[in-house]
Amino acid sequence: MVETLIPDAFTKLAYQTLQQGKAAFGLAHKTFSTRALKAAAATGLIAASSEGSSSDISAEIIQLVRGRYDQLIRVDWEDAEKGVYPRSLLFDDAWDDFAKYYPALCLDLPQIWNRAQQKVSREFAPEIDTAGLPNYYTQNFHHQTDGYLSDRSAQIYDLQVEILFNGAADAMRRRILAPLKAGLEVFKDEIPQNTRILDIACGTGRTLRMIRGMLPKVKLHGVDLSNAYLRKASQLLSQLPGELPQLAQGPGEALPYLDNHFHAITCVFLFHELPAPIRQQIMNEAFRVVKPGGTFVICDSVQLSDSPDLGMMMDGFSDTFHEPFYRNYTRDNLVDRLQTSGFVEVTESVHFMSKYLVAKKPLYGQ
Ligand SMILES: C[S@@+](CC[C@H](N)C(=O)[O-])C[C@H]1O[C@@H](n2cnc3c(N)ncnc32)[C@H](O)[C@@H]1O
Repeated sequence: MVETLIPDAFTKLAYQTLQQGKAAFGLAHKTFSTRALKAAAATGLIAASSEGSSSDISAEIIQLVRGRYDQLIRVDWEDAEKGVYPRSLLFDDAWDDFAKYYPALCLDLPQIWNRAQQKVSREFAPEIDTAGLPNYYTQNFHHQTDGYLSDRSAQIYDLQVEILFNGAADAMRRRILAPLKAGLEVFKDEIPQNTRILDIACGTGRTLRMIRGMLPKVKLHGVDLSNAYLRKASQLLSQLPGELPQLAQGPGEALPYLDNHFHAITCVFLFHELPAPIRQQIMNEAFRVVKPGGTFVICDSVQLSDSPDLGMMMDGFSDTFHEPFYRNYTRDNLVDRLQTSGFVEVTESVHFMSKYLVAKKPLYGQ
């Protein structure tokens, strides 16, 4: 196996170099695209810039964020080195998507810019049918063209997120893997083929892909409101060996599954995009469908209580990226909410720009 033949030091260097390259690319993309958009706005080609607030970030904050980025990359490598997940996962980037869709991502920027400047937040292509979808959901989150509701949005989404986080989005997602694996220990007598894991709001399937890499034999399920994102997930996941994950269209707040069905549940980058009552409903539903003794692992944005020094950045993010529920999210008490749903042993941690909550459903009689 290649993994065991290549010396650790070389793999580590390759991973660090890859991450540095992704970080530099993300920064360069943002710098040049902002300059180009401002120049186009100045000549009247696109909407005039309505920049009100200063986007200046202090040197201390840049230093703090850099330190956190480095810490994330360090622990990501350490978990791979320990064998929590295979080292190959560190290199599982969507290079073919990058080559295919980076031009589309760039060509879409003027539309995103126009929506942002003109404060347009519910604009969809005429063929998109929003009937039956919740009102809070039918928006252009991040000013994305078509919100989450078209194939072209699904094709460029992973690249957009990777660029937003300077190449750290997957590394942040991978932080759920160690607690997920540890949480499954309680079911160690179960054969992997009978172990069921659900990813709520699975989007394009990045998290399911990582779980498949770590636990090749378990049964994987994903649920999401977007058919377009599920189509993309199906395409990405069907490239992998092993049983095809089962994907379902539906809302996290009314999960289409039986009570006590899953051994573990994950949820990545969802809660900051929900109104507070829906956050609670989804936690209640996670509690209902996870087995007693099962684990719920959440990865989402950091909150004010985790990082008061990033408060200004967080409030700016809410407006700049059209995240209508983000401000409320950053002030919410997610531990209280999980406990209200019935979860126990709730723990919290922070890596780079994300926080992680791990919670257990009590075993019968506990
Ligand atoms: C920011 S994306 C995160 C996707 C994915 N988990 C990831 O790591 O990239 C949010 C996802 O949540 C889905 N979503 C939003 N509200 C939902 C809800 N109430 N129930 C199910 N999915 C929802 C969206 O369609 C989208 O795919």
